Amino acid sequence: MCARIFQALNFGAYLNITFSRHQMRFFVDTADVSELEKLLVTGMVDGVTTNPSLIAKSGRNILEVTKEIASMVDGPVSAEVTATDYDTMMLEGEKLAAIASNIAVKVPLTVDGLRTCKTLSDQGTMVNVTLCFSAAQALLAAKAGATFISPFVGRLDDMGMDGMELIESIRDVYDAYPTLNTDILVASIRNPRHVERAAEVGADVGTLPPRVIWDMYQHPLTSKGLDDFMADWAGAGQSIL
Ligand code: E4P
Repeated sequence: MCARIFQALNFGAYLNITFSRHQMRFFVDTADVSELEKLLVTGMVDGVTTNPSLIAKSGRNILEVTKEIASMVDGPVSAEVTATDYDTMMLEGEKLAAIASNIAVKVPLTVDGLRTCKTLSDQGTMVNVTLCFSAAQALLAAKAGATFISPFVGRLDDMGMDGMELIESIRDVYDAYPTLNTDILVASIRNPRHVERAAEVGADVGTLPPRVIWDMYQHPLTSKGLDDFMADWAGAGQSIL
Protein backbone atom coordinates (compact mmCIF):
# COMPACT_ATOMS: atom_id res chain seq x y z
CA MET A 1 0.00 0.00 0.00
CA CYS A 2 2.74 2.43 1.03
CA ALA A 3 4.65 2.07 -2.24
CA ARG A 4 1.43 2.43 -4.23
CA ILE A 5 0.52 5.70 -2.44
CA PHE A 6 4.04 7.03 -3.08
CA GLN A 7 3.72 6.01 -6.73
CA ALA A 8 0.36 7.79 -7.05
CA LEU A 9 1.78 10.96 -5.52
CA ASN A 10 4.86 10.68 -7.74
CA PHE A 11 7.11 10.91 -4.66
CA GLY A 12 9.46 8.51 -6.44
CA ALA A 13 10.32 11.11 -9.11
CA TYR A 14 10.70 13.78 -6.41
CA LEU A 15 13.04 11.67 -4.33
CA ASN A 16 14.65 10.08 -7.40
CA ILE A 17 13.55 6.65 -6.18
CA THR A 18 12.16 3.99 -8.51
CA PHE A 19 9.17 2.07 -7.20
CA SER A 20 8.35 0.39 -10.50
CA ARG A 21 8.29 -3.38 -10.75
CA HIS A 22 9.04 -5.48 -13.78
CA GLN A 23 5.97 -6.83 -15.48
CA MET A 24 4.44 -9.88 -13.85
CA ARG A 25 6.31 -13.03 -14.85
CA PHE A 26 4.48 -16.17 -15.96
CA PHE A 27 5.60 -19.59 -14.82
CA VAL A 28 3.91 -22.74 -16.12
CA ASP A 29 2.48 -25.05 -13.48
CA THR A 30 3.19 -28.40 -15.11
CA ALA A 31 5.45 -31.45 -15.27
CA ASP A 32 4.14 -32.30 -18.74
CA VAL A 33 7.05 -31.76 -21.13
CA SER A 34 4.93 -31.81 -24.29
CA GLU A 35 2.56 -29.13 -22.89
CA LEU A 36 5.60 -27.08 -21.92
CA GLU A 37 7.14 -27.40 -25.40
CA LYS A 38 3.98 -26.00 -27.01
CA LEU A 39 4.04 -23.01 -24.64
CA LEU A 40 7.76 -22.26 -24.95
CA VAL A 41 7.42 -21.20 -28.60
CA THR A 42 5.03 -18.41 -27.53
CA GLY A 43 7.88 -16.66 -25.72
CA MET A 44 5.61 -16.09 -22.71
CA VAL A 45 7.20 -18.58 -20.30
CA ASP A 46 9.55 -17.26 -17.60
CA GLY A 47 9.83 -20.43 -15.51
CA VAL A 48 8.13 -23.63 -14.37
CA THR A 49 6.69 -24.94 -11.13
CA THR A 50 6.02 -28.56 -10.27
CA ASN A 51 4.72 -30.32 -7.19
CA PRO A 52 4.46 -33.98 -6.12
CA SER A 53 0.94 -34.25 -7.59
CA LEU A 54 2.06 -32.92 -10.99
CA ILE A 55 5.12 -35.21 -11.04
CA ALA A 56 2.91 -38.21 -10.17
CA LYS A 57 0.49 -37.20 -12.95
CA SER A 58 3.36 -37.07 -15.47
CA GLY A 59 4.18 -40.70 -14.68
CA ARG A 60 7.91 -39.88 -14.92
CA ASN A 61 10.83 -40.15 -12.54
CA ILE A 62 11.16 -36.87 -10.61
CA LEU A 63 14.91 -36.49 -11.17
CA GLU A 64 14.70 -37.24 -14.90
CA VAL A 65 11.72 -35.04 -15.69
CA THR A 66 13.04 -32.18 -13.54
CA LYS A 67 16.39 -32.32 -15.37
CA GLU A 68 14.65 -32.28 -18.75
CA ILE A 69 12.43 -29.33 -17.79
CA ALA A 70 15.38 -27.39 -16.35
CA SER A 71 17.23 -27.80 -19.65
CA MET A 72 14.25 -26.45 -21.60
CA VAL A 73 13.80 -23.11 -19.81
CA ASP A 74 16.24 -20.42 -18.75
CA GLY A 75 14.19 -19.26 -15.76
CA PRO A 76 13.59 -20.89 -12.37
CA VAL A 77 12.19 -24.43 -12.22
CA SER A 78 10.64 -25.33 -8.88
CA ALA A 79 11.11 -28.91 -7.71
CA GLU A 80 9.47 -29.88 -4.44
CA VAL A 81 10.90 -31.99 -1.62
CA THR A 82 8.72 -34.87 -0.48
CA ALA A 83 10.08 -35.40 3.04
CA THR A 84 8.65 -33.56 6.04
CA ASP A 85 11.61 -33.58 8.46
CA TYR A 86 14.53 -31.15 8.26
CA ASP A 87 17.35 -33.66 7.78
CA THR A 88 15.67 -35.52 4.93
CA MET A 89 14.37 -32.31 3.36
CA MET A 90 17.95 -31.01 3.31
CA LEU A 91 19.21 -34.18 1.61
CA GLU A 92 16.40 -34.05 -0.95
CA GLY A 93 16.80 -30.30 -1.45
CA GLU A 94 20.52 -30.55 -2.09
CA LYS A 95 19.95 -33.42 -4.53
CA LEU A 96 17.29 -31.46 -6.42
CA ALA A 97 19.41 -28.27 -6.42
CA ALA A 98 22.33 -30.22 -7.93
CA ILE A 99 20.24 -31.06 -11.01
CA ALA A 100 20.74 -27.62 -12.57
CA SER A 101 21.60 -24.06 -11.61
CA ASN A 102 18.05 -22.84 -12.33
CA ILE A 103 16.37 -25.18 -9.82
CA ALA A 104 14.39 -23.54 -7.03
CA VAL A 105 13.90 -26.05 -4.24
CA LYS A 106 10.28 -26.02 -3.10
CA VAL A 107 9.58 -26.62 0.57
CA PRO A 108 6.30 -26.62 2.50
CA LEU A 109 5.50 -23.84 4.93
CA THR A 110 6.21 -25.80 8.10
CA VAL A 111 8.73 -25.33 10.89
CA ASP A 112 11.08 -27.86 9.29
CA GLY A 113 10.35 -26.49 5.82
CA LEU A 114 11.36 -22.96 6.78
CA ARG A 115 14.42 -24.25 8.59
CA THR A 116 15.36 -25.99 5.36
CA CYS A 117 14.61 -22.78 3.45
CA LYS A 118 16.98 -20.80 5.67
CA THR A 119 19.85 -23.28 5.30
CA LEU A 120 19.44 -23.69 1.54
CA SER A 121 19.08 -19.96 0.88
CA ASP A 122 22.16 -19.28 3.04
CA GLN A 123 23.96 -21.73 0.72
CA GLY A 124 22.87 -19.69 -2.30
CA THR A 125 20.09 -22.00 -3.48
CA MET A 126 16.79 -20.50 -4.70
CA VAL A 127 13.90 -21.61 -2.49
CA ASN A 128 10.16 -21.51 -3.19
CA VAL A 129 8.06 -21.80 -0.02
CA THR A 130 4.76 -23.42 -0.89
CA LEU A 131 1.35 -23.97 0.72
CA CYS A 132 1.09 -20.42 2.06
CA PHE A 133 -2.35 -19.40 3.28
CA SER A 134 -1.70 -16.30 5.44
CA ALA A 135 0.35 -13.11 5.43
CA ALA A 136 1.89 -14.17 8.74
CA GLN A 137 3.22 -17.31 7.04
CA ALA A 138 4.54 -15.15 4.18
CA LEU A 139 6.42 -12.98 6.67
CA LEU A 140 8.07 -16.06 8.16
CA ALA A 141 9.08 -17.29 4.71
CA ALA A 142 10.65 -13.93 3.83
CA LYS A 143 12.57 -13.98 7.10
CA ALA A 144 13.81 -17.48 6.22
CA GLY A 145 15.25 -16.08 2.97
CA ALA A 146 12.69 -17.47 0.52
CA THR A 147 13.22 -16.47 -3.10
CA PHE A 148 9.51 -17.06 -3.76
CA ILE A 149 6.45 -17.34 -1.54
CA SER A 150 3.59 -19.33 -3.07
CA PRO A 151 0.16 -18.33 -1.74
CA PHE A 152 -2.62 -20.61 -3.09
CA VAL A 153 -5.57 -18.52 -4.29
CA GLY A 154 -7.72 -21.22 -5.90
CA ARG A 155 -7.77 -23.44 -2.84
CA LEU A 156 -8.94 -20.50 -0.70
CA ASP A 157 -11.65 -19.70 -3.28
CA ASP A 158 -12.71 -23.36 -3.10
CA MET A 159 -13.41 -22.83 0.61
CA GLY A 160 -15.66 -19.86 -0.13
CA MET A 161 -12.97 -17.28 0.68
CA ASP A 162 -11.44 -14.66 -1.65
CA GLY A 163 -7.93 -15.96 -2.28
CA MET A 164 -6.88 -12.71 -3.90
CA GLU A 165 -7.33 -10.84 -0.60
CA LEU A 166 -4.38 -12.87 0.64
CA ILE A 167 -2.24 -11.61 -2.26
CA GLU A 168 -3.22 -8.00 -1.44
CA SER A 169 -2.34 -8.55 2.19
CA ILE A 170 1.08 -10.09 1.44
CA ARG A 171 1.80 -7.29 -1.07
CA ASP A 172 1.03 -4.68 1.61
CA VAL A 173 3.18 -6.44 4.18
CA TYR A 174 6.15 -6.92 1.86
CA ASP A 175 5.88 -3.33 0.54
CA ALA A 176 6.15 -2.09 4.13
CA TYR A 177 9.71 -3.49 4.12
CA PRO A 178 11.32 -2.49 0.80
CA THR A 179 14.51 -4.42 1.45
CA LEU A 180 12.63 -7.75 1.57
CA ASN A 181 13.78 -9.84 -1.34
CA THR A 182 11.00 -12.43 -1.61
CA ASP A 183 8.85 -12.52 -4.75
CA ILE A 184 5.12 -13.17 -4.49
CA LEU A 185 4.41 -16.16 -6.74
CA VAL A 186 0.64 -16.56 -7.01
CA ALA A 187 -0.19 -20.28 -7.13
CA SER A 188 -3.32 -22.38 -7.49
CA ILE A 189 -4.50 -20.10 -10.30
CA ARG A 190 -7.63 -21.41 -11.99
CA ASN A 191 -8.63 -18.80 -14.61
CA PRO A 192 -7.50 -15.64 -16.47
CA ARG A 193 -9.39 -13.41 -14.00
CA HIS A 194 -7.11 -14.69 -11.24
CA VAL A 195 -4.15 -13.56 -13.36
CA GLU A 196 -5.66 -10.11 -13.99
CA ARG A 197 -6.39 -9.59 -10.31
CA ALA A 198 -2.92 -10.79 -9.29
CA ALA A 199 -1.40 -8.27 -11.72
CA GLU A 200 -3.65 -5.47 -10.41
CA VAL A 201 -2.27 -6.11 -6.95
CA GLY A 202 1.32 -6.16 -8.22
CA ALA A 203 2.15 -9.83 -7.75
CA ASP A 204 5.67 -10.60 -9.02
CA VAL A 205 4.90 -13.97 -10.60
CA GLY A 206 1.92 -16.17 -11.38
CA THR A 207 2.22 -19.88 -11.97
CA LEU A 208 -0.40 -20.86 -14.51
CA PRO A 209 -1.70 -24.24 -15.61
CA PRO A 210 -1.18 -24.48 -19.42
CA ARG A 211 -4.94 -24.23 -20.04
CA VAL A 212 -5.12 -20.85 -18.30
CA ILE A 213 -2.32 -19.42 -20.47
CA TRP A 214 -4.11 -20.54 -23.64
CA ASP A 215 -7.39 -19.13 -22.29
CA MET A 216 -5.74 -15.74 -21.72
CA TYR A 217 -5.33 -15.30 -25.49
CA GLN A 218 -9.03 -15.77 -26.10
CA HIS A 219 -11.76 -13.17 -26.51
CA PRO A 220 -14.88 -13.64 -28.67
CA LEU A 221 -14.53 -10.13 -30.10
CA THR A 222 -10.94 -10.85 -31.16
CA SER A 223 -12.11 -13.96 -33.05
CA LYS A 224 -15.07 -12.16 -34.59
CA GLY A 225 -13.00 -9.11 -35.52
CA LEU A 226 -10.40 -11.26 -37.22
CA ASP A 227 -13.06 -13.21 -39.14
CA ASP A 228 -14.55 -9.92 -40.35
CA PHE A 229 -11.16 -8.53 -41.42
CA MET A 230 -10.35 -11.73 -43.30
CA ALA A 231 -13.72 -11.77 -45.07
CA ASP A 232 -13.34 -8.10 -46.15
CA TRP A 233 -9.75 -8.70 -47.25
CA ALA A 234 -10.76 -11.69 -49.35
CA GLY A 235 -13.12 -9.36 -51.26
CA ALA A 236 -10.42 -6.71 -51.79
CA GLY A 237 -8.47 -8.84 -54.25
CA GLN A 238 -5.11 -7.66 -52.92
CA SER A 239 -1.99 -9.28 -51.42
CA ILE A 240 0.78 -7.84 -49.27
CA LEU A 241 3.35 -10.38 -50.53
C1 E4P B 1 2.25 -24.56 -7.60
O1 E4P B 1 3.27 -24.14 -7.14
C2 E4P B 1 1.19 -25.16 -6.79
O2 E4P B 1 1.60 -26.38 -6.29
C3 E4P B 1 -0.06 -25.29 -7.62
O3 E4P B 1 -0.30 -24.05 -8.26
C4 E4P B 1 -1.27 -25.76 -6.85
O4 E4P B 1 -2.39 -25.68 -7.68
P1 E4P B 1 -3.76 -26.44 -7.34
O5 E4P B 1 -4.33 -25.85 -6.10
O6 E4P B 1 -4.63 -26.21 -8.54
O7 E4P B 1 -3.41 -27.89 -7.14
